[in-house]
Amino acid sequence: MKKKLWGGRFSKATDALVDDFNSSIRFDSRMYQEDIDGSVAHAGMLGKQGIIPQEDAGLIQKTLLDIKEDVTAGKVEFLVDAEDIHMNVETLLTERIGAVGKRLHTGRSRNDQVALDLRLYLRHKTDDVMAEVKSLMAVLLDLAEAHTETIMPGYTHMQKAQPVTLAHHFMAYFEMLKRDYARLAECRARINVMPLGSGALAGTTYPLDRDAVAEELGFAAVTANSLDGVSDRDFAIELCSDVSILMMHLSRFCEELIIWSTHEFSFVEMDDAYSTGSSIMPQKKNPDVAELIRGKTGRVYGDLTTLLVMMKGLPLAYNKDMQEDKEAIFDAVDTVLLCLPVFTNMIKTMRVKKDVMLKGAKGGFANATDVADYLVKKGVPFRDSHAIVGQMVAYAIGENKNLDDFSLAEFKACSPLIEEDIYDAISMETCVGDRKVKGGPAPERVREEIAAGRKHLAEL
Ligand code: ARG
Repeated sequence: MKKKLWGGRFSKATDALVDDFNSSIRFDSRMYQEDIDGSVAHAGMLGKQGIIPQEDAGLIQKTLLDIKEDVTAGKVEFLVDAEDIHMNVETLLTERIGAVGKRLHTGRSRNDQVALDLRLYLRHKTDDVMAEVKSLMAVLLDLAEAHTETIMPGYTHMQKAQPVTLAHHFMAYFEMLKRDYARLAECRARINVMPLGSGALAGTTYPLDRDAVAEELGFAAVTANSLDGVSDRDFAIELCSDVSILMMHLSRFCEELIIWSTHEFSFVEMDDAYSTGSSIMPQKKNPDVAELIRGKTGRVYGDLTTLLVMMKGLPLAYNKDMQEDKEAIFDAVDTVLLCLPVFTNMIKTMRVKKDVMLKGAKGGFANATDVADYLVKKGVPFRDSHAIVGQMVAYAIGENKNLDDFSLAEFKACSPLIEEDIYDAISMETCVGDRKVKGGPAPERVREEIAAGRKHLAEL
């Protein structure tokens, strides 16, 4: 029987079923670099503090780096019965340097080790997600710049409401992504705290220099309480929550793009490279990419639920339940990192059908509010003008025409206050162009918003 690293008090080998059941190496092996980097820093500190001999520390560090190289080169096969990445690395180390390797785990537990590895790993992934969000924000700014005069209908209840511009619509998503980025940056700061030194739960009697390890590994601070240091997974839940919100934004956008690509809407056409066909219907061009991102959003929400439920009843400090955190948070970051670049390129390459958008804005009485506002400017109280225009719309529906198609006589029949200038006042260009209020769709306002967005992005 091969003894476990913790096998001292055991007289029987673990059942093979339990070995397999207990093991996390299948999914935590992806943290091998973080595990080794953490061990290198820990060993160096043990040597400097005189807790283990300096030359042992040096040999451990050198061998760990060799192991890292070998794992990267695919030369190492991890063992299920060595349970997890931490004990697999330690097993490899002692295989290579015997007794010296056995000194590495001094003043450390897998409980603070796994907390460290996960923080290092997620810090890196958070940086990756933030970089992708930035690329998407830059593409949105370029698209917005190209479409400040592209008029389209805005909707409420999926019914035509008032005209806006495509740039204004794009910039709405830019704002959401700005908040997503800020949330991720805040989360990163909470991830970036060093737990090593918490030990199994109660710290250690060895004179560890936690601050030196933190500095070595680029952490901004060390955790303040050893029980919390090993049992906190807030940072993973927070990251999962942040990427859930981010996915929700992508998913809403995807839903719109799916609708806009329908024959009925026809506002946009996805590039061939970002669409797929049907195996039976030769005419089909499906927005699969957008649909899949919408679908994968549910999967990330599932990961968040997994993490929240896994943690909700756990007493302090470490419990093995927490091993379940990894697959969920890994899946969430993998998914968002898969979706972001494909989404960015999909919108970058799609074709916008400006004429169809403008036509869409013109039908459906999207300028009815502007007719009411016209009457208000001629002195009619808004409630009365609302009622007058309501009757005009009812009449227009009966006549199968738009409000702009009314003759002056038809207008005057509705209100004698209406003059020739009505046509200009309710044109799509005026409806959008006069909405100069801060945050409104007027091209000049949106151009300012884009400029502010560029400045914001440059400073991130
Ligand atoms: N594989 C474990 C995990 O992912 C590492 C910590 C195990 N600690 C322990 N005392 N069993 O949570």
